[in-house]
Amino acid sequence: MNISPPLVIGIETSCDDTACAVLDGEGRVLSSVVSSQIEAHRPYGGVVPEIASREHLENWPQVSRRALREAGIELKDVGGVAATRGPGLVGSLLVGLSLGKSLAYGLKLPFHGVHHLEGHLFSSFLRGLEKAESVPEHFVGLVVSGGHTSLLRVSGASVVSLAETRDDAMGEVFDKVGKRLGLPYPQGPTVDQLAEFGDASLAPLPIPSTKASLDFSYSGLKTQTLVELERLERAGCDTSYRPEEDPPFRQEVLHLLAGFREAASEQILRRLRRLHRKQKIPFLAVSGGAAANRLLRRKLEAWATAEGVELRLVPLRYASDNAAMIAHAALLRQRRGLHDDPFTVEASSRIPYLRRPAR
Ligand code: KG4
Ligand code: ZN
Repeated sequence: MNISPPLVIGIETSCDDTACAVLDGEGRVLSSVVSSQIEAHRPYGGVVPEIASREHLENWPQVSRRALREAGIELKDVGGVAATRGPGLVGSLLVGLSLGKSLAYGLKLPFHGVHHLEGHLFSSFLRGLEKAESVPEHFVGLVVSGGHTSLLRVSGASVVSLAETRDDAMGEVFDKVGKRLGLPYPQGPTVDQLAEFGDASLAPLPIPSTKASLDFSYSGLKTQTLVELERLERAGCDTSYRPEEDPPFRQEVLHLLAGFREAASEQILRRLRRLHRKQKIPFLAVSGGAAANRLLRRKLEAWATAEGVELRLVPLRYASDNAAMIAHAALLRQRRGLHDDPFTVEASSRIPYLRRPAR
């Protein structure tokens, strides 16, 4: 296999995954190691920040060693270092960012403090061991994760936000609905899986509107779903989670989950249709953990085919948090001659990536 310089090492520790990846100068993913902390957080039903930071520190030596070994390289071969600078849990970010900064300083290499959203945005172009697809000059990006539901317009180096969620993110409500049902962490992928066994038309839920704006809103849908669940319970339906049974819920609950998932993903499609009517979307790149959602992927594929939109759905292995996407975003910046001063980049739990366009 051809390997082109510069090799970029990526570090991602914004939440509960400790990740390290090595990409070559053409965006080939030579290694991408993600060490999950699911077991450490499971007893608490969600991520405990203090535990996450400690786990990152503990996991880093073996994660980084494995990333170098799988890529077949040594630190002396590396030509750039990237780490997530935010947003995320500040204690977690500090671990990866400090490691990245010191590595870059010690090895006298260019350093990149990457915004997590920027990492997701360009992840749809990763192709594993093949060269990354070149990023089109103009495209619309949709990032759906546990922290973001963002529609972005990219034109060369300029990225502007077209729409954001006004409240919860799409992945976040999947987690919250699943948590209410007693599902173990992480709930989002399981809710999606269970929804496959329900019939959405038997439990329709309203699709939230934000009037003329393209913005998203998910907290109303979450409340509606929980109200419907209570209604089922008051009517005597057993909504408890029975992991030893298959399926692990009564059929009424599965219909409700299907109705919830239908409304959650249809909201995205409505916004895209509206945007496409106003200003054609020639190319759409979809990424983020919730971009793994089966129904969303099916709907996007059908819509893009019908409308002649070039669609790039993030490969499933780069949908949820990983360090390959951070190294890739850094590589794109490095190609533009950009890099950061490791002495001034700071970790921040909330940092805006972009400005909103004037309306
Ligand atoms: O990108 P990611 O790993 O982390 C953040 O940046 O938030 O996304 C994780 C989120 C979680 O909320 C998770 O429940 C959600 O993505 N998620 C899903 C699915 N797989 C992961 N949500 C809906 N359907 C899925 N299949
Ligand atoms: Zn993410």
